[in-house]
Amino acid sequence: MAEQDEPRRLRDDAETRHFIEQSLNALFAPEDDALRAALEAVRAHDMPAIQISPVQGRLLQVLAHACGARKILEIGALAGYSGIWLARALPPSGRLISLEVSEKHAQAARDSLARAGLTDRAEVRVGPAAELLPALAGEAPFDLVFIDADKPGYPTYLDWALRLTRVGSLIVADNCIRGGRPLRGESDDPTIAAIGAYDRRAASDPRLLSVAFPLDDDGMDGFAISVVIAPDAANVSGPSA
Ligand SMILES: C[S@@+](CC[C@H](N)C(=O)[O-])C[C@H]1O[C@@H](n2cnc3c(N)ncnc32)[C@H](O)[C@@H]1O
Repeated sequence: MAEQDEPRRLRDDAETRHFIEQSLNALFAPEDDALRAALEAVRAHDMPAIQISPVQGRLLQVLAHACGARKILEIGALAGYSGIWLARALPPSGRLISLEVSEKHAQAARDSLARAGLTDRAEVRVGPAAELLPALAGEAPFDLVFIDADKPGYPTYLDWALRLTRVGSLIVADNCIRGGRPLRGESDDPTIAAIGAYDRRAASDPRLLSVAFPLDDDGMDGFAISVVIAPDAANVSGPSA
């Protein structure tokens, strides 16, 4: 290929990736008014637009249905966009508990879940997740845990996810690829170091069977997905109620 063609090829590749992402979102994960309103709340409240993508929302729903989820724990609510996808995968008697450190974000998430008609099964609790998680022992086991809050907290959240789940539960964490930086080894950046530690544990912990793959941000980031295959020694949970 001639050298001058390289920039055009890169631009064409980026356009193709963008086309594929948009088309898959439209085909598999079309948004309704409630989801669009949650995105609008992000803008209206001047929050960072760091919610999951539509296809990631649909993937969470596929996973929730596949494991027959009745109880879901989310760490990091923002304005409730992922919460809507998750709560919609629950049966009417199901329960989503979402932990959120910011009172402003938590209120926006509650409003989004109310607009979506999901207040019967979804609840947002305010506080630092590390302080709220120990109090959830009585409500475990959760069938699916979605981790999407402060990245330095990820290794701690994985410890708690193991304690609060059962064999067969799923643990999903967003932003586990981050442009490949966590995969390059040790890092002085606490975010990258924590994600790297999370990935290595998810990959090697004998209680977990895991995979991570690029899914958004033009293939630069994505989920790590783990199924719990052996109980945690400190597991607080019996069979799902
Ligand atoms: C990436 S956003 C969550 C996006 C959301 N899951 C979605 O896709 O719609 C991260 C959220 O985690 C919250 N957060 C940050 N640190 C936290 C902590 N220590 N405990 C609980 N929530 C935290 C932030 O306030 C923010 O709302």
